[in-house]
Amino acid sequence: MLVVLKESAKEVGREAARIVASSLRANPKSVLGLATGSTPLGMYEELIALHKSTGLDFSQATSFNLDEYLGLAPDDPQSFHYFMHSNFFSKVNFAADKIHIPDGAFRKDYSAYCEQYERAIRSAGGIDLQILGIGRNGHIGFNEPNSSLASRTRLKELTQETIEDNKRFFPQGAEIPECAITMGIGTILDARRILILATGKSKAASVAKAIEGPISSSVSASALQLHPDVTFIIDEDAAYGLTQRDYYRRVLELTKKYTPEKLT
Ligand code: PGA
Repeated sequence: MLVVLKESAKEVGREAARIVASSLRANPKSVLGLATGSTPLGMYEELIALHKSTGLDFSQATSFNLDEYLGLAPDDPQSFHYFMHSNFFSKVNFAADKIHIPDGAFRKDYSAYCEQYERAIRSAGGIDLQILGIGRNGHIGFNEPNSSLASRTRLKELTQETIEDNKRFFPQGAEIPECAITMGIGTILDARRILILATGKSKAASVAKAIEGPISSSVSASALQLHPDVTFIIDEDAAYGLTQRDYYRRVLELTKKYTPEKLT
């Protein structure tokens, strides 16, 4: 597990975008796992800027988003469909038929729908690079505490804490969805490479548990310790609870010296 410490949230976004761009240049047909929320916004802004300034090409790439609120139609301004289109897809040259986001308006056989999402990921060849944020409760995607570490895409009940955290995205008085469709932890762990981003003091405790705590379903992100190619990109505030910060900096310097390909 690589831990990349950055001075600011802006630098976190820039570093994540640099890695996404280099994966895309190496393989224009990359399958990207994408995330919503405030944390990856800086990364999307940087990718849009790279698209405009250097022609970074998304036309052959495929994407699978982590999750969507149950009950929100794609044109609902609070939906993750809307978020992705307004903050990213409408500003780059992603092909519409290569974009996949779980359908929150789906109302019938959820498990058949979720199995179909899993099949679509498999038939695209699996996810090459998965982007994640982390919740204050350690969730990745909407895999709330006590999610099975082997879980697959499914309907998940949101905790009160997550509902409270995400209230800021909804108009005052709006009903907040109580469930979501989310890729599972097992789905995420199948990705070939994982980047997880965190910024701000409110994430310090969950970041410390994810990186230095025991692997536990109480902290979904701790399951990433089982994956051979995970990079945490975090700012100073989010790194606050880590006890081994100096060592992580040394690992990064030595990685640059001996195995720089790991950082591209
Ligand atoms: P945030 O959400 O980026 O809006 O903080 C992260 C998450 O809950 O995964």
